[in-house]
Order: sequence, then structure tokens, then C-alpha cells
Amino acid sequence: MAERENSRKMYNEINLDKIDINANPPTEEPARQYYFMAKCRQYTEQFQEEHGRIPMAHVQNYGCQMNARDSEKLAGILEAMGYGLIDSEEADFVIYNTCTVRENANNKVWGRLGYLNVYKKKHPHMKIALCGCMMQEADVIEKIKKSYRFVDLVFGTHNIYKFAELLYTALQQNDMVIDIWKDTDKIVEDLPVERKYAFKSGVNIMFGCNNFCSYCIVPYVRGRERSRKPQDILREIKKLAADGVVEIMLLGQNVNSYGKNLHEPMTFAQLLSEIEKIEGIERIRFMTSHPKDLSDELIAVMGKSRKICNHLHLPLQSGSSRILKEMNRRYDKEQYLALVAKIRAAVPDIALTTDIIVGFPGETEEDFLETMDVVKKVGYESAFTFIYSKRTGTPAAAKEEQIPEEVVKDRFDRLLKEVQRCSTARAEALTGRTEEVLVEEVNEQDDTLVSGRMGNNFIVHFPGDKGLIGKIVKVKLKECKGFYFYGELDGQER
Ligand code: 5AD
Ligand code: SF4
Repeated sequence: MAERENSRKMYNEINLDKIDINANPPTEEPARQYYFMAKCRQYTEQFQEEHGRIPMAHVQNYGCQMNARDSEKLAGILEAMGYGLIDSEEADFVIYNTCTVRENANNKVWGRLGYLNVYKKKHPHMKIALCGCMMQEADVIEKIKKSYRFVDLVFGTHNIYKFAELLYTALQQNDMVIDIWKDTDKIVEDLPVERKYAFKSGVNIMFGCNNFCSYCIVPYVRGRERSRKPQDILREIKKLAADGVVEIMLLGQNVNSYGKNLHEPMTFAQLLSEIEKIEGIERIRFMTSHPKDLSDELIAVMGKSRKICNHLHLPLQSGSSRILKEMNRRYDKEQYLALVAKIRAAVPDIALTTDIIVGFPGETEEDFLETMDVVKKVGYESAFTFIYSKRTGTPAAAKEEQIPEEVVKDRFDRLLKEVQRCSTARAEALTGRTEEVLVEEVNEQDDTLVSGRMGNNFIVHFPGDKGLIGKIVKVKLKECKGFYFYGELDGQER
């Protein structure tokens, strides 16, 4: 048999070839999952013998950066099992890592599943799996059981670390395997990860959310806040740095409350100070910050840091103090604006981005104008604007005054225009400056250009070749195109 590309690869110092797959499975994690990865390898080896090629897998990600990071873990586990990874759904194994934050995220998945069903009919050996936030909803599971019988494996957010074991079960049987947990306090470290980028990586620092904003389904599908131990986070980042990663994005639903429930509590600002010391890491980003928990200590750390990017994502959700109360955000318009002023004073160059929801139940024109007022006053570099989506089980879904669609649409369009105006104005002010840029890729439309990101998260395209990817270089911003720039290399790489 041809030598398998990854058969000798070590996964976190574990050699899968050395695992005795005829012994009983270990009870400890992650050893148990490595055992099942080795078991699944038997399947992929047999597949290769039968088909003359390795089986191909596709991981489709929906949703936020946390999901994207989870998808990298799923891909890493599949690779360890001996699957090849491809970007197409015409694969031997397809897994959708779903999102449910707004209804259109769910609709996308139902739509794609119809297509997968057709493909699977022609390729009956194919296996289909669903995981992620949407699977934590009881009515979704009922619908899959009833109308999507061709799905082979369903699991949720709390037991994603068990993917290898669950897939092994699904490969052994023809019935649908479903394993959904209500919550967990468990965090399993050291599973394989297949990073999308060689030079930058997300790093989870906490999971779950305790805030219960009244519109949001996340606390119900991601469970209570759990912080990873600082030593596990630092160990992971050191390993990433040794592997060539220069930029990290610390991930959590509410990073500002990091460490509160650790055995030995630690603040997010303290964690950042420790990360700052890691050699090789040049840029530190984080998201998401809840305004109510953003401490003076954090602002001070941001002010003096050399590595924390001059970008802060600070979700506003609404500019109306009345609506913010209804949303259970626990800050008002004045407090938010005061916080912005404090941050700008400490980090003058900081780029601010935000999330805004339009059409929350009971939102009046006056409330909406308060939101527009904050947008104008803050002058965001960019904003994600969302139409309120009713999520079953959240307190806001029970509110009677849902806003008519045409009113919401009109407000949404007005908001978008204002956001674009602010964003362009902020960007134009940067034209002519020279900025440090992390080069990410060759430009998709024009391969004489490369594209990279500045610390403030704006994108710039400039002449260069793929040898620059992963490097931080100085680029002069020549022309502003609203959301992005054209530039040229300014001197030598840093
Ligand atoms: N409807 C619309 N937008 C929502 N978000 C969260 N829940 C909803 C909802 N029910 C938005 C918030 C959050 C972002 C990730 O998604 O703005 O910050
Ligand atoms: Fe949802 Fe609010 Fe938690 Fe963000 S902080 S995940 S909006 S409940």
C-alpha cells in the first residue's frame, strides 16, 4: 500500500500508529479520542484499498469566529484519521458546523441539506454529519429525525471534543447517531487542529456566555461561561509561535469576563499581559468585548501594549437607553459613549467596530434615531448591522410589539448608509500614511497583488508576491476605496 502522507505525523506528541486499537478504549481525555482516531484510520486505510484513493472530507463552517476555530479542530481530527480535506461538498464525508444566532443561518443549512441528499443518493457510501449551535435546539433535532433521515451523525457544541468517537460509531452503523448534551463544565485540551492560515490563528480563551441578552440564543446553545486555564492558553500560544504564527485572535463570547470563575481567578488584562511576553507573537487581537465588563485595567494594558492591535470590537446593539434596558445589556447610551471616550483617550489611534441590531421589539423611530446618533458620534471604522431575528426560547421572542418588516427594512437601509459614510470617512483619513500590514494572501482578482491587514483591521492590496505571505511589512496607503486601500511597499519588511 502506498505510504499514507500523514501516517507518521505526530499529533501533540502522540503517534497514532503506536496506539493499540484492539485494547479497550481509555477512559481519560484526550487519550480516548486519539484511540478512536486510530480506529477510524483503519476505516480510511480500508477505503483506500478499495477505492485506490484516500477518502475526502469537507468541513463547512457557518457562523462566528468561535465556530471557525471549532471547524479547524474538526478538520484536524479528520486529517489525523487519514481523510483528505477538500473545499467541495462532493466528498465522502461532509460535516456542517452550524450557527443559529439568526434565523437565516438555520435556513441556509436546511437549503444545503436538500442538495446533499441528492448527492448522497448517487453516492450511498457518503456520510453526513451536523454539529454546532443549531443542533442544541430541540425542535431542530426533531425536524432532522423526521425529515432528514439521510443524516448520519448529529452532535452539539458541548461534546464536540468527542467527534472522533462519534464518527467511529457512525461509520460502524447505518442508523443516525445523535448525541446532544445540555451543558458541560468540561474543556478537553490538546486535540489536533488543522489551521486555515499558517501565520495567524484563533485561540479560545473561554466558552459559553452568562449574559442572557434578551434577544440572544447563544447562552442557551453554548452554555455557561467556562474559562480555559491560563497555563493551557499560554502553552498553546507558545506552540503556535514556535510553529510560525505571528498573529493570534483570542476568542470568547465575552472575553472581558475571562477568568472570573477560574480556581485561581485572573483578569483578561492580566492574561493579555502574559501573552504579550511570548516571543514570536507580533499581534494580539481579541473578540468579543462586552461594554459592561470592559475594565480600566484593560484599557491601561491596551494603551501601553506594543502587540495588541489598535482595533476594538465593541458591540453597541442599540443606541437607545430604553431598548438597551429591554435587551438586558446593562449599560446605557451615555455609559457607552463615555467608555468610547475613555478608550480613545488611552489609545488615540484605535479603530472601533460594532454590532447593531435594528428592529428589536418595541423599537420606535425615536429609539432608532438614538442608534443613528451613537453611530455618528462614535464614527465606527466598520459595523455589522443585523435585522432583529426572533429566536424561540429567548425573552424577546415573547414580546408582543414585533416591528413590521417594511419599517425595519427602511431603518436598516438608513443605518447602513450612515455606517458606510462613517467608515469611508475614517478610512480616507488614513490615506497617505504608512502602516504595518500582515500579508495574508495573493489577491483573488489580480495575482500581481497581495492582500493584507493593518492592525486596525482595514485591508490593503499592493504589488507583491506570495513570498510575502505571513510577513509583516510597511505599506504606504495610496488610494482609499471605502472599505479597503490600494498601496505600495514602503521600504523593507520589518
Ligand atoms: N437577531 C439579530 N441579531 C442578533 N445578534 C444576536 N442575536 C441576534 C438576534 N436574535 C447579533 C448581535 C451580536 C451578533 C453576534 O449577532 O449583534 O453581537
Ligand atoms: Fe449573546 Fe449577549 Fe452573550 Fe453576546 S453577550 S453571546 S449578544 S447573550
